[in-house]
Order: sequence, then C-alpha cells, then structure tokens
Amino acid sequence: MTDTSVYAPSAEFVKHAHVKGMEGYRALYQRSLDHPEEFWGELAEKELFWFEKWSSVFEWHPPFVKWFAGGKTNAAYNCLDRHLTTPRKNKVAIVWEGEPGEQRLISYQELHRLVCRFANVLKGRGLKTGDRVIIYMGMVPELPVAMLACARLGIIHSVIFGGFSAEALKTRIQDLNAQAVVTADGAWRRGKEVRLKDAVDEALEECPTVRDVIVLRRTASGVSMQPGRDHWWHDLEEGISEQCPAESLSSEQPLYVLYTSGTTGRPKGIVHTTGGYLLQAVTGMKWVFDLRDEDIYWCAADIGWVTGHTYIVYGPLAAGATTMIYEGAPDFPQPDRWWRLIEKYRVNTLYASPTAIRAFIRHGDQWPNGHDLSSLRLLGSVGEPINPAAWEWYHRVIGKERCPIVDTWWQTETGSTMIAPMPGAVPLKPGSGTLPMPGVVPDIVDLHGKPVAANQEGFLIIRRPWPGIARTIWGDPERYKQQYWDRIPGVYMTGDAARRDEDGYYWILGRVDDVMNVSGHRLSTMELESALVRHPAVAEAAVVGKPHEITGQAVACFVTLKRGDWNHEEVAEDLRKWVAKEIGGFARPEQIRFTDALPKTRSGKIMRRLLREIVTTNAVTGDVTTLEDLSVVTRLAAQHEED
Ligand code: WTA
Repeated sequence: MTDTSVYAPSAEFVKHAHVKGMEGYRALYQRSLDHPEEFWGELAEKELFWFEKWSSVFEWHPPFVKWFAGGKTNAAYNCLDRHLTTPRKNKVAIVWEGEPGEQRLISYQELHRLVCRFANVLKGRGLKTGDRVIIYMGMVPELPVAMLACARLGIIHSVIFGGFSAEALKTRIQDLNAQAVVTADGAWRRGKEVRLKDAVDEALEECPTVRDVIVLRRTASGVSMQPGRDHWWHDLEEGISEQCPAESLSSEQPLYVLYTSGTTGRPKGIVHTTGGYLLQAVTGMKWVFDLRDEDIYWCAADIGWVTGHTYIVYGPLAAGATTMIYEGAPDFPQPDRWWRLIEKYRVNTLYASPTAIRAFIRHGDQWPNGHDLSSLRLLGSVGEPINPAAWEWYHRVIGKERCPIVDTWWQTETGSTMIAPMPGAVPLKPGSGTLPMPGVVPDIVDLHGKPVAANQEGFLIIRRPWPGIARTIWGDPERYKQQYWDRIPGVYMTGDAARRDEDGYYWILGRVDDVMNVSGHRLSTMELESALVRHPAVAEAAVVGKPHEITGQAVACFVTLKRGDWNHEEVAEDLRKWVAKEIGGFARPEQIRFTDALPKTRSGKIMRRLLREIVTTNAVTGDVTTLEDLSVVTRLAAQHEED
C-alpha cells in the first residue's frame, strides 16, 4: 500500500482560496482544538443570524451534547431572509432543470416568497412547531421549498427518498407519528414516471396519524385524491399571504429526522438540530467547497439522502450560493446529460459519488469530451471510498488536471464533512479523505480503544463532539447511546475501518458492521434479511455486500427455501421484486444463491464473514475498492461480531 502520487494545489488555486496553504489549515485546526468555545462562538456570530445569543457554546453530558444552548435562531431565516437585505436578494438561489428539459432560475427573493406561501399553507392545516411532516417528492424546487417552510415554523421534516417503496415509507411515517405528508403526483426518472402519490396512498392505509396530504402537480398523469385528506398544493396556495415571519426557535430545536440503515432490521431516525448543524454546514461551504459568490455549485446527490440536505439545501443556501438541482437520471436521454448541464450552466463545482463516476468511466470518454467543461474549478467525491483509478479518471477527463478533488468522508450522523481536504491548502492523495476538519478529532483504535500505530488498520472513532453531530435517534436515546458511544466508552464509533498513514492522512476502508454501501447508499443486511424472510417461500436468509465494479458493493443473498422442489430462477425473480416492494428498487439483490443451510456459529449466529469471503473471492474484476482492504474489513468485522 504505497501512496505514490501527491497532488499539491496549484499556485493559482491557492491565490484565491479561502484557506491558503498548510499553514492556513494548521492554524485553523489547532485553534479549533485549543480554544473550541472561542473558535465556534466567533464563527457562530459571524456566519449565522441569531434572534437571541446563546448562553453557552456547548454543554457536553456524554453522550448527549447541546450547542449554543439558550440561543434563538431559524434555519430558513438563515437561508433566506438575511440575504434579502444584501445584493444577494436578486441572485439565483436555485438553478433547476427537469428531466424533460424545463428550466427554472429562482432568485433568493422569489424563493423566500415561495417558502412563505407554503409555510402559510402548513399553518393553515393546523401544523405547528414540533409537529412532523413527511416529504416524499422527486428532485423539484418544491422539495427544498417544503423543507424550508417546515424549518420556518419549527416543524420537523423528514424527507424520504423517492426510491423507497410504500412499505418503507409506511414504517417511517409510523415511527414519527407524522401529522402530514407532502408529495407529488409523480417524478420523472429515465423518461418514466415514478408514481409517488400511489405509494403514499398505499402507505397511509396503516398510518392513522396523518391528517393531511399535500400533492404537487408535477407529471399531471392523474392520481386519486381522497376528499378531506388530500389537497392539491396549488389549491391550498390560492389567495394565500406571502408574509410569514420565521419563528424564533431554540438552537437545539430539531430541524429534521433522516432515516438511515443501522445494524438491525429497523431503520434509525437520525435527529439533527438547528444552530450547530447549520454552522458546520455553512462553514464547510467555504472550507471544503471554497465557495465564491459567483459560483454555480452543483451537488448531484439526491435530497433524500443527507448529502442533499446539507450540501444542496442548508449549506449552500445559508452561504448565499447558487445551488443547482437536476431532476432526473444521469444517462437520460444519453450518457452526456451531466456534461451537457455543466456546459449549459457553466457549473464551477461538481460534487458526486464514486458510483456515478465509475458508471461514466464505463460509458466512455467521448461523452464528457464532447462538451466544454472549462468552467469547472473544483470536484468533490462522497458516499464511499473512491478507488485511485476512478480518482485519476475524474481528475484527468473531467477536471482536465486543473481541478482539485475534495474526497469528503462523513455520515448521516455527523451532519457535515468530517475528514476532507481544504482544496487550497491540503495536498491530495487519490483515495484518501486526507485530514480532519476543524473541531474534528478522529483516531484509529483497536477494539479496546487503544490507538494503533501509523499504517495499521483499526476502527475509526471521533473523540470529541462537534456542532453538527446527530443528537439522538428519534424516540430511542438508548439505542443512540449503545450504537455510537458504548462500544468504546466515551468516544463516537463510526462503524468504519480506516488507517492513518505517516503523514496523518486517513484512508477509509469500509464498514465493519452489518451496513452495506451500495452506490453510496446505506443498506442494512438485517433490514434486507427481515424483508426476505417475510416472503412466504423463504425459510432463512443471509445478506452480505459483494464487491462491485460500479456500485462499490452489491447486494448478495443466501437463501434457504421452505421446499426443495421450487424453480430457483422463478423464486429468485420473485424475491427481487419482493425486495423492491418491501424497501425500494435500489435495494434489489444482484445475486441470490440458494443453499440447504447457512453457516452458523455454535450460538446460532450466521457467519456472514464466511459468506462475505465466498462472494468476494470469486467475483472481483478490475480495480474495485482494493481487495486487500476488503480482507481487512472482513477480519475487523469478525472481531466486531465475536466480541
Ligand atoms: C461511507 C454519506 C469513504 C462510510 C455522506 C460512511 C465514505 C458511510 C466516504 C456513511 C468517503 C461516506 N470515503 N467512505 N469519502 N463518504 N463514506 O450515512 O462508510 O449515507 O460510514 O452518509 O458512507 O453513509 P451515509
């Protein structure tokens, strides 16, 4: 494992960067450790608007922390209102392109109006601070409008990725006891309609707490509307006031709950609050994305995942950026859609997943090469380890060897980037997230919490709480404590394996728990297994991640059936459909193997480690997240399992 190539920032990039050179980075980082209260307190005053100042910067009662307690603020006010007294009022806040090709350019002033109107709609339905609203939409501007309208009133939103099935939607609505659902008739994806409202109707059969469903007309394909419960967005907005003051809310007011997969069959509702979360989101825009006022900034994630929350909506808007949103598939109608968008809107920053990059490599260089990508200045990567070959391609073919690549390691639970380079400061090594961000104190330890030597693999932990850390798991603080803080007492357990090289650079190797990473999306083996065993033909099932050239990992299932004489091909096809129905199309297994028995320990635990080895050793082609790493992960996962 020699880390050969190092890419130092160009003099030209450094000249204009927010943080210049390693001295710049080191000074910031050191101060954040030596004087955390002054460091974050000063930033909070400079970067955010407060109705009332806090009484303490942070209060740490392990494992629970409060940031800016006593402070009063509002996320929507920070993303909108405060820009209206500056020249930014006329700046484009959102550049949007629909998959069929429509275009919208929404200024800060206009976005403010849209948000106030929709906030008044929510008020009109009797919704208030502390209530929960589910947002289940495609990538249209009304999705951030709905989020910000909730934030304006202190309503806790939970965005459910549009690829989740009715079944997955239902369990999340029930966990939150949500009062309302905001959705659309449908969304466009690869030329086809995703029927969102139909899924909502199915989910709501067992969700008695939901009183109102607000439906945006997007595809106009015709949906059923239940009188009394369902309302068209545009009907409710008729004659509505455009004045809606932002509520003065506690810094610790929950802003949103976002579900993510954990190590059990039940998804976790990760709770983020307001002041600390927003502060880290906005500072990261400068530190990591080196944002300039004139940038067209594009994070190509889906808003249904945390990357979209922090780096399409809250971070960029709080920073007064122009954030771009594209509704549809990257390869529709042709594999050059992204490059076309970059050329058309003169995009300066592109933030994407390694899975997307690897898919573009497979399509061929002629697609990006056919477009003028000279507006690009900075590239980013997120969601999974990026293999050096994909990094080099991204750097050469997309960035024309001119654009630094910020490889950002973080998690739904961390709220914003944790280990990531400041592009005008930190020399890059392909495949490494490089160095920790201010206030972040990572370490690599063994299972007893003892730090391991340089270049040794171990568990990635974080030693101190940071402003944007998830405060709890919705309705289950005990699970929060057990999951993240009890394993090695007093430190945050990330669930990832990593090593740190002699320069202090972090190399993330992958998950050590039963969480898979498919196309940068987290999936739980237990969640998939529970879905499979609910199928009437299945006696037992074990699920593991299998290395995959494009998506990083793919879902591989080992299944024992209740009867031996069924046609395996037919059952496999049925099981794939079943998983899509129970969770969503993106969780569809790539491989299903039928077996008479599953390997188990004496205490009856399925030995997933063995299964992982089976799917790993006979299925790897090309340069995937290196094989050595996988064997390490397997070994560490085994320790984790057996302890
Ligand atoms: C993985 C996404 C390597 C990691 C923001 C983490 C990464 C999980 C990187 C969180 C990266 C994310 N390099 N691995 N740059 N970024 N991961 O919650 O395993 O969807 O624990 O958050 O993705 O996934 P989540």
